[in-house]
Amino acid sequence: MKDDKEQVVILGLETSCDETAAAVVTDGRQVKSSVVASQTKLHEKYGGVVPEIASRAHIEKIYPVIQEALDQAGVGRDDIDAVAIANQPGLTIALVVGVTAAKTLSFMWGKPLIAINHLHAHLQSALLGAEKLELPAVALIVSGGHTCLYECDSPLELKLLGSTIDDAAGEAFDKVATILNLPYPGGPSIERLARKGDPKAIDFPRSLLGKGSLDFSFSGIKTAVLYHCRGQDMKGQNRVDSMNEQEVADIAASFQAAVIDVLVKKTRRAADQIGARTVLLGGGVAANGTLREAIEHMCAGSRPPRALLVAPKRYCTDNAVMVASLAYHKYKAGLFADLTLEPKATG
Ligand code: KG4
Ligand code: ZN
Repeated sequence: MKDDKEQVVILGLETSCDETAAAVVTDGRQVKSSVVASQTKLHEKYGGVVPEIASRAHIEKIYPVIQEALDQAGVGRDDIDAVAIANQPGLTIALVVGVTAAKTLSFMWGKPLIAINHLHAHLQSALLGAEKLELPAVALIVSGGHTCLYECDSPLELKLLGSTIDDAAGEAFDKVATILNLPYPGGPSIERLARKGDPKAIDFPRSLLGKGSLDFSFSGIKTAVLYHCRGQDMKGQNRVDSMNEQEVADIAASFQAAVIDVLVKKTRRAADQIGARTVLLGGGVAANGTLREAIEHMCAGSRPPRALLVAPKRYCTDNAVMVASLAYHKYKAGLFADLTLEPKATG
C-alpha cells in the first residue's frame, strides 16, 4: 500500500444492471475518466432490462470500455493502484461479467482487488464534492432496483434505516411509463411529460406505512395508475390510447408528485428521528429535478436548516466513478477482497 503522501489511482468497474462502466479516479475525488456504455437501446423494446441481454452486452463491452477509460485518463496498468468492482447488489449474470474482468485484471496486473456495494457507491456520489460531512447524516438512495434510507457516519460507516418492501421508486417510474406508453427508461420520460401536467389533477395514494416506519411501498401507487387507466376490473381498454397529451401529462405529473411526496416525507421522518444535520441524495431517480428541488426545499425549511449533499446529475445513474471513489476509502482502510470474490444479487 502507498504511504499517505502518494496519490492513489483506482480503476473502478460497474456492470450491475444495464450500464457497462469504467472510470479512473485519483484519491477518491479527481475524476480522470468516466466511460459509460448504456444498453438502453437494447432493452427499450421490452420496457425493462432483460438480464440475458444485459449480460451478453456487458461481455461485448467490458474490455473496450476499460481500455477507453485508461486511454482517456492517460494511464496504463503500472499507474493503477487497485481495481474496484461493484459485486452486489444487482443482476447476478450481469455482475459476474464485471467481477470476472476485475479479478482477471487484479491477477494479471498484480494489483489489489476491492469489492464495492453498488448502493453504498450511489451514496458516495453524493459525497464526491463534499468538503466535510456534518453528522448525523441521513441518505436517501433511490434507484431502479432499490429505495433505501441510511444513517451515514462516513463513506464506510452506513446503517440501513429502511428500504422498500415491494417496488423501488425507479421501478415504479418505469412501470408507470409502460402503462402510459412512454419510452424506456421511464423516469426521464415521466419527468419530461410531467412538466406539462398538473401534479394536483389526480390524488394518487401516498403509502407511508406505520407511524414511524422508514420503509417504503410503491406498488400501491403503480396499481392506482393502472386502475385509473384500465378501470377497477381491469377489463377496460387502456384509456391512455384515446387520451390527449394533457390528460397523460396530468397522470405523469400526479404520479411523480405522489412518489416524491412519499420520498420527501420519509426522508424528513428519518432525519427527525436521528436529528440529522445533513441529508444526502443519490441514485438514478435523484436525477429528477422535481425531487431534487423538493428535498432542497425540505432541508431549507427544517429548523435549523439541514445541509444537503446531492450527487451531480451525471453521477446519479449507474457509473464507475462512484465505485472508484468509494474504493479509495476501502484502500485507505486496507479493506481488500481476494480472487474468491463472487457476485451477489442482494445487499
Ligand atoms: O441507479 P440507476 O441508474 O440503476 C439502478 O441501480 O437501478 O437507476 C435507474 C433508475 C431507472 O428506474 C430510471 O427510470 C430512474 O433511475 N431514473 C429517473 C430519472 N432518471 C433515471 N427517475 C425519475 N426521474 C429521472 N429523471
Ligand atoms: Zn444503480
